[in-house]
Amino acid sequence: VNETPILQNTVNGNGLTKTTTFTSAEDQSLFSPSLISAEIQSVLPEGYSARPLRRSDFHLGYLDVLRVLTTVGDITESMWNDRYDYLLKRNDEYYLIVICDGAGKIVGTGSLIVERKFIHTLGLVGHIEDIAVAQDQQGKRLGLRIIQTLDYVAAKVGCYKSILDCSEANEGFYLKCGFKRAGLEMAHYY
Ligand code: ACO
Repeated sequence: VNETPILQNTVNGNGLTKTTTFTSAEDQSLFSPSLISAEIQSVLPEGYSARPLRRSDFHLGYLDVLRVLTTVGDITESMWNDRYDYLLKRNDEYYLIVICDGAGKIVGTGSLIVERKFIHTLGLVGHIEDIAVAQDQQGKRLGLRIIQTLDYVAAKVGCYKSILDCSEANEGFYLKCGFKRAGLEMAHYY
């Protein structure tokens, strides 16, 4: 393991920037960056980038971006690391991506979970989850780019379709992203 320190700007909850040191092992990508489409990268706003989630994203505002979607709760760094390790062991199943602005701050995120079936000759289905764009960054096509990035991963890893659940209020957004209404969502809460 290469333990060379990496200096990285991190943004705390108050939007203040500080510089922190990570080792390369700590900063490992969740999955191979080769699954991120270069074509989609090229149409992001100037300086913005799309990439796989990293362990160090705890410090770059990942959870704050998710808070525009729903309740996140108080997640400590140790809780984050435990969950990150779980995802990393299953990184042919969990593909979490982020969009960063020019300063490296996370401004958008989305997840693709790949389900392995017996039906359709061991078919793979992508489940698109937890799409969120920071409030002050909405309307710049970042949501569309997140979906396109996840679609590219899904096709590359062999999914025959991707599906998602959303509110009526977001239907127009997903139609713009090329999705079609199909079926009906139902839920049991425990
Ligand atoms: N209804 C209709 N059209 C919409 C909506 C909407 N709610 N939101 C965006 N659009 C349109 C845009 O006008 C744009 O159209 P254009 O191509 O003609 O210009 C197109 O969809 C793409 O919009 P983006 O700019 O990419 O959208 P944005 O970056 O603002 O992201 C998102 C949209 C993700 C819904 C964002 O508003 C957000 O984070 N909302 C809060 C969290 C949320 O609801 N997430 C989705 C949950 S569902 C799930 O996770 C599976």
